[in-house]
Amino acid sequence: MLQLRDAQSAPVAIRREDYQAPAFWIDTVDLCFDLDPAKTRVLNKMVLRRNPDVPAQALRLDGEELNLARVLVNGQGASFRIEGGQLVLENLPAAEEGPFALEIFTTCAPAKNTKLMGLYVSNGSFFTQCEAEGFRRITYFLDRPDVMASYTVTLRADKTAYPVLLSNGNLVEHGPLQGEGNENRHYAKWVDPHKKPSYLFALVAGKLVAREQRIRSRLGGDHLLQVYVRPGDLDKTEHAMQSLMASVAWDEARFGLPLDLERFMIVATSDFNMGAMENKGLNIFNTKYVLANQATATDTDFANIESVVGHEYFHNWTGNRVTCRDWFQLSLKEGLTVFRDQEFSQDLCAEPSARAVKRIEDVRVLRTAQFPEDAGPMAHPVRPDSYVEINNFYTVTVYEKGAEVVRMMQTLVGRDGFAAGMKLYFERHDGQAVTCDDFAQAIADANPGSELARLLPQFKRWYSQAGTPRVHAAGQWDAGAGRYTLTLTQSCAPTPGQALKEPFVIPVALGLLGADGQELQTQQPALFVMTEAQHQIVFEGLAAEPVPSLLRGFSAPVILDIDYSDAQLLTLLAHDSDPFNRWEAGQRLALRRALKAIGDDGFADGQTVLDAAFIDAMREVLRHPRLDAAFKELVLTLPSETYLAEQLDVVDPQRIHAVREAMRAQLAEALLEDWQWAYEEHRDNGAYQPDPRSSGRRALAGLALAQLCLAARTSGDTVWPGKAYQRFKDAGNMTDRFNALSALVASAHELAAPALQRFHALFKDEALVLDKWFALQAGSPDRNGNVLPAVKQLMKHADFNLRNPNRARSVIFSYCNANPGGFHRADAAGYVFWADRVIELDAINPQVAARLARALDRWKKLAEPYRTAAREALARVAAKADLSNDVREVVTRALD
Ligand code: ARG
Ligand code: ZN
Repeated sequence: MLQLRDAQSAPVAIRREDYQAPAFWIDTVDLCFDLDPAKTRVLNKMVLRRNPDVPAQALRLDGEELNLARVLVNGQGASFRIEGGQLVLENLPAAEEGPFALEIFTTCAPAKNTKLMGLYVSNGSFFTQCEAEGFRRITYFLDRPDVMASYTVTLRADKTAYPVLLSNGNLVEHGPLQGEGNENRHYAKWVDPHKKPSYLFALVAGKLVAREQRIRSRLGGDHLLQVYVRPGDLDKTEHAMQSLMASVAWDEARFGLPLDLERFMIVATSDFNMGAMENKGLNIFNTKYVLANQATATDTDFANIESVVGHEYFHNWTGNRVTCRDWFQLSLKEGLTVFRDQEFSQDLCAEPSARAVKRIEDVRVLRTAQFPEDAGPMAHPVRPDSYVEINNFYTVTVYEKGAEVVRMMQTLVGRDGFAAGMKLYFERHDGQAVTCDDFAQAIADANPGSELARLLPQFKRWYSQAGTPRVHAAGQWDAGAGRYTLTLTQSCAPTPGQALKEPFVIPVALGLLGADGQELQTQQPALFVMTEAQHQIVFEGLAAEPVPSLLRGFSAPVILDIDYSDAQLLTLLAHDSDPFNRWEAGQRLALRRALKAIGDDGFADGQTVLDAAFIDAMREVLRHPRLDAAFKELVLTLPSETYLAEQLDVVDPQRIHAVREAMRAQLAEALLEDWQWAYEEHRDNGAYQPDPRSSGRRALAGLALAQLCLAARTSGDTVWPGKAYQRFKDAGNMTDRFNALSALVASAHELAAPALQRFHALFKDEALVLDKWFALQAGSPDRNGNVLPAVKQLMKHADFNLRNPNRARSVIFSYCNANPGGFHRADAAGYVFWADRVIELDAINPQVAARLARALDRWKKLAEPYRTAAREALARVAAKADLSNDVREVVTRALD
């Protein structure tokens, strides 16, 4: 067999403006796999034709880590060369000669594929991950999303080791293989009726079992739904199947989009780089987003499964039927599909208050993860202009901010107008690979006369300008005239490569409250659309100075600067009809107190940060007779250390940690009786249901228990830690059990050690539960630098495995990315650990390593000695000669 290798090519930036249509189209692909972990043979027979719109040129097929054995053009040996990793063929038939056949035979080594891109082996089964550019690790191809082909796939493998053989579309043939060397081997042939780009290709082969469900949908006929897992995991598939059925029904009801396949499959694997993948008809999932039962999964897991199953299913239309022209358009499918899964989860809520809770949770993710990204070295527009490694751009900006951009469109055209826009989008573009512009145009065109249609070019700055806009709001009260004037000013700080920003279109949902908290009727509409740098809104005929409630429901992804008095915030917290702003008022009250203490150079551990007014307001919320438990839990949870850090120009992570810990301890002690009441009132012993209402009760009971254990730490009380241990032992579900365990660990009680040991013994065979066990310890509140040594111990544990992304994340990411108080050490040991792990992981799995590399994104904001130490750690990684493009791009941008 012929081995071809060529010199390492230097990383080059790919630019959006360089897009060119492909020089060839691929009409059909016929793939035949002989599956073998050590050496899988892939026979790829394609029919291609020249693209008449592009000047004649050589065919350049992408390939990576492939062994090439044979190339035939129309059945004849052909001359070719390998150049920059690509297979280059000159002298192909001319356009007039029509389509031609190209046959390529290669092999690859799935068992050695630790990057988990392309074809790989996990627990003895074969899986694929092709988005974004993994298909080129399977065969030579035009591996770009605008080349859409019809696929026929034949899988051949040993029958005992791989009884299940799956690919996209419909199973058309299967049976034993005949002939010598084929003893105990079988095959399956799949035909996908839909054209697709290569990134949506998938195959799975292994020992799997399926939960099956037949459904008759309103619009699309009869379908078979399947959820494939390893034998032994079937009892954890009910919720995923329920979620899938709900997704099918929702997309029909809300957008008129039916399931277009006879069979829809979900397969779970425990080795997966991301959450899940929407391969046509054969979604492949991280087990984390499939497997759940009440004994092993928390309420959060159940909710995540519902939203990820929905997300991947919704991609079937937004992503698969209409796909991206190029990877710069990634948010076309991701932002839109996140928006759709958010709406799905909200629509499944029985009560409006639960919808609001979901919205607050989504905004919290945006503000703690995307806002820092938008303010750091990796800041990029929702539609980026360039990248070195596309995998680095599967970001919270493309996903979550992208979803906010779609949400603003819906806000501007209304829910029905948005549905009409989606309809037009599919009428125009079904079966095509398109751009973000095409999407925005369709929504606007379906709504002529709307603000969106009128402002479309300016609105699209949300796609082209990076950075989080800041809206400054100032109110002026003229008592004599009964007039309130609100001045809104927008600005946006420079981001890498974008010094100046033009004004955004910012929909600001607003209302006014009287001093008594009553909503005031005004002549102004409830939605004000900012287009200029500055606006004034005048409210006439008011009896007293109002309290403005701005950006209701978080109507735009901006930072709202407004100088509220404490009294105004307390009014909003007690009375705002908008639940989002009610929660936000509580966060602002807490934030103000935290920032004051952080700015106090004399701050000492144990110092009080909270005043009686704040504590009373929190008690009011906690004891409120009508508010939801889930909402109370959100209000009573203090802003995170990461969120606090974002409000500061110079960040001392230890000071932030100390202040927030002091606030938690103070809330615990000051509300002792209220926490006791809350715990007793909300702990339930009934049958487990993961619905929003009962999970909200468990969340509040869990917070109460954590606070009671924390209070016990100072008072020396043994009753509550004892109760927590009892709860840990007796709990009928993982949520209550894990909350009790966390309460003991977070308060560093001596019962934590035996509880952890018991937990491990109980769940030693449940990988996803062990991930929680590792993550809890690596993420626990730091006390005198105790977490890093514990993390190093955990990495020596027999159950630790750096090659499994979930396990690596559970220990290393939980420490470096999610535990600022433990990670940022004055002795720099956290950063040294980080650099070692980035380098170590990069040799195994560059995608996972590059995510870890992002932990020091915000190093320039750090106070000394952290800043210098962080830069040195980054420089040490950057100095490594053979880094992946993934990690190199991240650390280079950070050091820039
Ligand atoms: N399209 C997938 C999703 O949103 C994400 C796949 C990303 N994979 C990757 N290797 N970059 O659900
Ligand atoms: Zn997606």
